[in-house]
Amino acid sequence: MPKGRLITLEGIDGTGKSSIAKMLEERFRDAVFTREPTGNWIGKAVKRSIESDIDPFAELFLFMADHAEHISKLIRPALREGKTVISDRYSDSRYAYQGATLSDLVDDAIEWVKSVHKGWTIVPDLTILFTVDPTIAVSRCGIRGDHTKFEKIEFLKIVQGNYLELAKREPQRFVIIDAAQAPGSIGDRVEAVISEFLKK
Ligand code: TMP
Repeated sequence: MPKGRLITLEGIDGTGKSSIAKMLEERFRDAVFTREPTGNWIGKAVKRSIESDIDPFAELFLFMADHAEHISKLIRPALREGKTVISDRYSDSRYAYQGATLSDLVDDAIEWVKSVHKGWTIVPDLTILFTVDPTIAVSRCGIRGDHTKFEKIEFLKIVQGNYLELAKREPQRFVIIDAAQAPGSIGDRVEAVISEFLKK
């Protein structure tokens, strides 16, 4: 069975990751571009949960329901057709963000959130992690309008720490990109990383 490749873009709010994803769409025209939360009704429920004072487990399970639907309706079929799929956020967002929201509720929250994905998620082949000083990240989010409960410096520091921990645990899957540079040069660097990876 021909198998496509799954590439994910990750990082805290305010790294400029979504603008880079748009740039990549121009540069990799044959790839399937997607995102989490998705645009379907579960994704919309997830967006409501972000704006509300929801129980953190309930929030995780909503994000996971969205992920399950995303995998079965889009990711798996596209990979089966041999396509390259590039997703703006994916499972590592759960490990990093819900690893933070659940840190007082379960032991080793990152590993616990990972464990509830095991057996049914599809692990990315390459994950590009964008990092930036959380102070800069929050000021960039400010430009977008009201801050969500996640767009706070202290919270994003923990989330970025979780991302870096994930990258440390799986260095073969992650490439870390400093998102403080100019968007054009970040776009060129990411394009080079992806092109190199697709040649393998
Ligand atoms: P977005 O800004 O990329 O649309 O993502 C919405 C917010 O949801 C952002 O603060 C990151 C957060 N998030 C999680 O907490 N867990 C997840 O699994 C995903 C996909 C996003």
